Amino acid sequence: MASFLITGASKGLGLAFVKELASRPSSEVSKIFAGARTNSDALKELCSQNDADNRVHFVKLDVANQESVKEAASEVEKKLEGKGLDVLINNAAICHYDMQKLTNPTVEKEIMREMTGLEEEFQVNVMGVQYTTREFLPLMERSELKKVANISSTFGSISSASDPAVAWSPCPAYKISKAALNALTVQYALEYQNKGFSFIAVCPGWLKTQIGSDLADLTPEEGAKASLEIILTPGQEYNGKFPMVKVKGWETKEEAASHGGYAGNNVYDGRNIDW
Ligand SMILES: NC(=O)c1ccc[n+]([C@@H]2O[C@H](COP(=O)([O-])OP(=O)(O)OC[C@H]3O[C@@H](n4cnc5c(N)ncnc54)[C@H](OP(=O)(O)O)[C@@H]3O)[C@@H](O)[C@H]2O)c1
Repeated sequence: MASFLITGASKGLGLAFVKELASRPSSEVSKIFAGARTNSDALKELCSQNDADNRVHFVKLDVANQESVKEAASEVEKKLEGKGLDVLINNAAICHYDMQKLTNPTVEKEIMREMTGLEEEFQVNVMGVQYTTREFLPLMERSELKKVANISSTFGSISSASDPAVAWSPCPAYKISKAALNALTVQYALEYQNKGFSFIAVCPGWLKTQIGSDLADLTPEEGAKASLEIILTPGQEYNGKFPMVKVKGWETKEEAASHGGYAGNNVYDGRNIDW
């Protein structure tokens, strides 16, 4: 019976994590803390559908604001009534695309000098994870599972940077922030492995969300389910690793290509991605 905190739960993958966890029996999932800076209609509905067993709790949480993170940690601590927090999913993130280059990839434009959003993306995608992890670690030390999942992306893989599936997307600040998130994950993994923690930089796949767009391969529900398979793997196999999700029907190039459209560049086979 595990407790979970998910950041960025207002929509997209974060909301899908909450939905998936709420659908599981209370013998498996005890409390779900849905951290979000705004209580979206979708999240309100999900909380009210689960009113009866009082398992899903909205927690106001802006990961980029240290005061907000501290307040959220003390609220969660009270609600856990002396128990620890088992799983932290650092999911909240932002991504700036160069819209001119996105809509017209052949346009001649140097996007590195502008680097739209670099400071803001570091503040949310890297510092936000640091603030959240730091504040929730004491609660997690009291838990059984001790899993911290940092939702990363192949876009943060430096060795994949020139692959067409990564290089096409004009969002350098996001890619740099996810590479830094990966480095942060490894440093935590090294320091906390002897305390039984697993720090995992998991890629949930290309998802149909605001960040991923409607052209993406998978639904957020598929991404959440497949990510949880990895996150909840018993033991510390994934500590300090960068796994790709595994999704049935997407495990080979041929299977991926059979989905048509933009599909075919991404294979979801559960491999560890090269940093
Ligand atoms: N979609 C993909 O293809 C894809 C691929 C690989 C990795 N990922 C990763 O998956 C995760 C979820 O992204 P998504 O695809 O679900 O995108 P999304 O639909 O844009 O959702 C992003 C979430 O992050 C929240 N957020 C942003 N800044 C925040 C802050 N300062 N404090 C708290 N919450 C904040 C947003 O809340 P608001 O509603 O308040 O803005 C929203 O709930 C991200 O880490 C992303 O990098 C996505």
